[in-house]
Amino acid sequence: MTRLILITSGKGGVGKTTLTSNLSAALTDFGENVIAMDANLTTPNLGLHTGMHLVPNTLHDVLKKKKKLKDIIYPHPYGFKIIPASMSLDDLRDVDVGRLPEITFSLLGKADYIIMDCAAGLGREAISALSASDEIIIITNPNLPAVTDALKILKLAQQSELDVIGVVVNRVRGNKNELSSEEIEELLGVPVIAEIPEDKNIFKSIAKKQNIFEYAPYSPAAIEIKKLASKLTGKPYNPPKLRKPRNLIQRMAYWLTR
Ligand SMILES: Nc1ncnc2c1ncn2[C@@H]1O[C@H](COP(=O)(O)OP(=O)(O)OP(=O)(O)O)[C@@H](O)[C@H]1O
Ligand SMILES: [Mg+2]
Repeated sequence: MTRLILITSGKGGVGKTTLTSNLSAALTDFGENVIAMDANLTTPNLGLHTGMHLVPNTLHDVLKKKKKLKDIIYPHPYGFKIIPASMSLDDLRDVDVGRLPEITFSLLGKADYIIMDCAAGLGREAISALSASDEIIIITNPNLPAVTDALKILKLAQQSELDVIGVVVNRVRGNKNELSSEEIEELLGVPVIAEIPEDKNIFKSIAKKQNIFEYAPYSPAAIEIKKLASKLTGKPYNPPKLRKPRNLIQRMAYWLTR
């Protein structure tokens, strides 16, 4: 059975696309057959994050009925498949966002997981992506504005009777001004299923158009995303024990390379 999971947020820039590409890669590592889909039609980035931005046909062509679904599913070298959206402004013309559910539901049976990235907020595009999914993961940063916006999308999802898997807290620095996961759970009333640390390997991997497992498979963020994939699949994962720097030189090297 295909799991159709939307990665969504109230606030923009919290890490939806980063999680979509990396979770798709992590699930692939667990032997799952995955399609990553860019349902962010106005500001799509999944192609750029994954190095698949120069493809000839996109989701926009299918929404405009110019292409068939089979023409826009591309194999990514890492092993998952990807449905990119067009980055061209011209392609936004005549796009029927309302056709998104019809497209995702016709993908059922074609993969174990369909992981969908979408636009932030509560606009028509984001709402259409909600109605095109079965389950959602809400991603937020550990601050009040992001969590407050997450609450809005959560309410909308609950009204639509979607299955809310939980909340991913991204860019956790562990400083005292952040909301803790316990506080976020209390505010939202749903479990925190992953805490992904602030990790500059993420930024570097995106710059190289690679997922974090290609770029730095044992980085702190990679390990947390793998744990999330393990939770979703129910398949075991033994995270590597990261060696703590022991002496001053090692500590300096550690901080310089973080
Ligand atoms: N765990 C992390 N550690 C460090 N940087 C991160 C982390 N997660 C995301 N980022 C940075 O945050 C930026 C925004 O992430 P991303 O594009 O995934 O957000 P988004 O929610 O998809 O944004 P939008 O709402 O605009 O689509 C990325 O360019 C990346 O560099
Ligand atoms: Mg994005």
